[in-house]
Amino acid sequence: MMKDEQHKDKQQMAKLAPKRDWQAYYNAVVNRPPRKTLLTALDTFEKPGIAIDLGCGEGRDTVEILRQNWAVLAIDQNPDAIASLRARSIDNIDRLATQIVNFEKLELPKPVDLINASFSLPFCSTEAFPNLWFKILNSLGTGGRFCGHLFGERDSWRDRKLINCFTRSQVESLLKPYAIEMLEEEEHPGKTPLGEDRYWHIFHIVARKK
Ligand SMILES: C[S@@+](CC[C@H](N)C(=O)[O-])C[C@H]1O[C@@H](n2cnc3c(N)ncnc32)[C@H](O)[C@@H]1O
Repeated sequence: MMKDEQHKDKQQMAKLAPKRDWQAYYNAVVNRPPRKTLLTALDTFEKPGIAIDLGCGEGRDTVEILRQNWAVLAIDQNPDAIASLRARSIDNIDRLATQIVNFEKLELPKPVDLINASFSLPFCSTEAFPNLWFKILNSLGTGGRFCGHLFGERDSWRDRKLINCFTRSQVESLLKPYAIEMLEEEEHPGKTPLGEDRYWHIFHIVARKK
């Protein structure tokens, strides 16, 4: 591709990129309960271990993981997310570590018992996603679990070319190294927490590394 075309292509991608006002999102979801995927995964463990919360946002899942006496590394690209999380009243704060880094540059410690990624992986760049998905697998010990969400092929944000969306069979392929414990598909028109109209196509996932 010529340089000019590459430049135009980047401009076009930037226009389509999901520019989210994450602080407005954090304000809108504050005090919402932890995700069902996370609660389901936590219930399967006999004792607390080490978890990573990827794209933790203002921490609705992180605080629950801490409340259940786990150690957590909460990661987000957005400094406001980590500031909002740390401003919360949190049980077991001495078990919380935080890191501000984007998925594209992320290195994960290993082995960990649980990696939670609620509504965050779709926002990883499409080029970086395969490597990130491998890093998640690589970071989990055998028997460790992934829980979180991926967007489906009919999700309305699919048109924004930087969002990762998958067919069910692609999701099943991604989960081949795992025993699937939950794979629920949800699809309907709705609204975002900020009140924007949207068509949701979501996979809710809990999976154990084989
Ligand atoms: C929809 S919010 C979800 C937050 C939280 N997990 C929840 O369930 O409410 C997505 C989060 O992913 C983070 N995020 C988006 N793209 C990212 C990237 N490329 N690298 C790291 N974090 C990212 C955003 O900053 C935001 O906090």
